[in-house]
Amino acid sequence: MKIAIMGAMPEEIEPLLNQVENIKETTYANNKYYEATYQGKEVVIAYSKIGKVFASLTATILIEKFGCDRLLFSGVAGAINKNLTIGDLIVANKLCQHDLDISAFGHPFGYVPEGSQFVHSDEGLIDIAKEVASKLTVHLYEGIIATGDQFVADSSRKAWISDTFCADALEMEGGSVAVVCNAMNVPFFILRAISDSADDNANVDFDTFLQNSAKVSANFILNMIEAME
Ligand code: ADE
Repeated sequence: MKIAIMGAMPEEIEPLLNQVENIKETTYANNKYYEATYQGKEVVIAYSKIGKVFASLTATILIEKFGCDRLLFSGVAGAINKNLTIGDLIVANKLCQHDLDISAFGHPFGYVPEGSQFVHSDEGLIDIAKEVASKLTVHLYEGIIATGDQFVADSSRKAWISDTFCADALEMEGGSVAVVCNAMNVPFFILRAISDSADDNANVDFDTFLQNSAKVSANFILNMIEAME
């Protein structure tokens, strides 16, 4: 077992790098990859940079070059579901791309031929997460995450994403990582802690809460790795 742990930004992987051991750094395709061990398990950690293209590249490299056979994503998201507040954890049961649009040809938003509107996460990894949440007595929301190359700080765009995809949270990488892992047959898990509400105040909230919410997510991921066999 070799576990990839991905974030999009340095803040999302720093708390992981602070906890792992035997770090070996490799630079490849303009990115840094950190092979390490945690609780005797092999991990490879990287942040991709923001957005779907960079995230797809990094996920592919983690699988193809580093031989990772499962992938966990740790990071922050904007809340759509009103029950989600800053610092809450949400795991995606399925993900979509809210900005993928060939509706001019009569297709649903988020769909292209030979793809699918939603990609489902690995149920085994979600089960492990539920056990970890109950052991830590933290609430873990499960729901739909919508991904797009857009920082959403606008109530009407947020409402459209909510109405179109029934999404509970949104971010900028998960849906593309899901497509890559699904195509490569690698079980994946996308975890996010809420940093903002994707509304008119989202940019200020994001800057305020990024670091702390990223830590909440990273700590949960490390507990998951401990629980994985
Ligand atoms: N990640 C965290 N907050 C976000 C937002 N409001 N839009 C897109 N990605 C995010």
